[in-house]
Amino acid sequence: MSQLRFDGRVVVVTGAGGGLGKVYAQFFASRGASVVVNDLGGSRTGDGTGNHKAADIVVNEIIAAGGKAVANFDSVEDGDKIIATAIKAFGRVDIVINNAGILRDKSFSRMTDEDWDLIQKMHFRGSCKVAKAAWEHFQKQGYGRIINTSSAAGIYGNFGQANYSAAKLALHGFTQTLAREGAKKNIHCNSIAPIAASRMTETVFPPELLAHLNPSFIVPVVAYLCHESCEENGSLFELGAGFVSKLRWERSKGVVFKADSTFTPGCVSKQIAKIGDYTDAQYPTSIAEVDWVGLLEEAKSLKANVAGPDLRFDGRVV
Ligand code: NAI
Repeated sequence: MSQLRFDGRVVVVTGAGGGLGKVYAQFFASRGASVVVNDLGGSRTGDGTGNHKAADIVVNEIIAAGGKAVANFDSVEDGDKIIATAIKAFGRVDIVINNAGILRDKSFSRMTDEDWDLIQKMHFRGSCKVAKAAWEHFQKQGYGRIINTSSAAGIYGNFGQANYSAAKLALHGFTQTLAREGAKKNIHCNSIAPIAASRMTETVFPPELLAHLNPSFIVPVVAYLCHESCEENGSLFELGAGFVSKLRWERSKGVVFKADSTFTPGCVSKQIAKIGDYTDAQYPTSIAEVDWVGLLEEAKSLKANVAGPDLRFDGRVV
């Protein structure tokens, strides 16, 4: 099988001083791409900056192996400066891997405004800023690939990660809209929810599991999604340790109520099991996939909803 190559392509990898970002950067360089190795060199919790060593080491390793790379030490919150580095060094940008990450895990009751804001700014706003700065170049050249790094914590929720899970699932919403806006100009955007051994997870997973979670096992999927031959757009993949899967939305067939004053909370309570029955489920892929006209017609012919004793909220403060 011939190699998928990236000759002539310019790849920006954020947070590439270690963990997943480092292996992405090394791989793209080994397949012919020029790489911007971005990392501001902070701690796992986002404290401290200015340690240029991490990105410099990766750049030196790539160059020593015969590849092309430059370092950038800006925060992703200054995404325009990171893209400017790509343009100055290599004259273009083709692929953005939004990978940089930090954690501020705490139960919601203990989470401070700072913990919340830092995570939103770094993960969500940072990814938007880098993508936005690259976008005009992608549009002009009729080509671009973006990977946003989501997380299982965002997809399923995870104790102690209200800030992180909110930002990570927001990123997939962002992906789905960029996929639509970019499609005509051959700009594709996909999300991944990886699991890999790194400084971020070294205290989270047991050593026997970490031993199987080599970050290299995430690389083939990211590289494929960024190749010019890949048509995938707007998708979300959950992957790690060689396991690769794709997620989609599932909507139950649902229940139609007669939309009048007989439609009460008590009716909902009676039908809640049917509302959540996934027999004959649908897998909608766009906002337009609800037949509102058909549903309204169906509702018209219904008799009034027969509710039991309705639900009351006496004594509650809303
Ligand atoms: P890591 O901690 O090894 O690497 C993250 C890198 O991002 C660090 O080198 C750090 O200096 C850099 N960084 C942090 N803030 C930055 C900023 N403002 N600007 C530029 N660089 C910055 O973490 P890992 O595991 O490689 O994570 C990569 C991505 O994957 C993150 O977005 C993380 O949330 C996500 N992820 C990782 C999982 C895992 O199992 N390792 C699970 C789910 C998601």
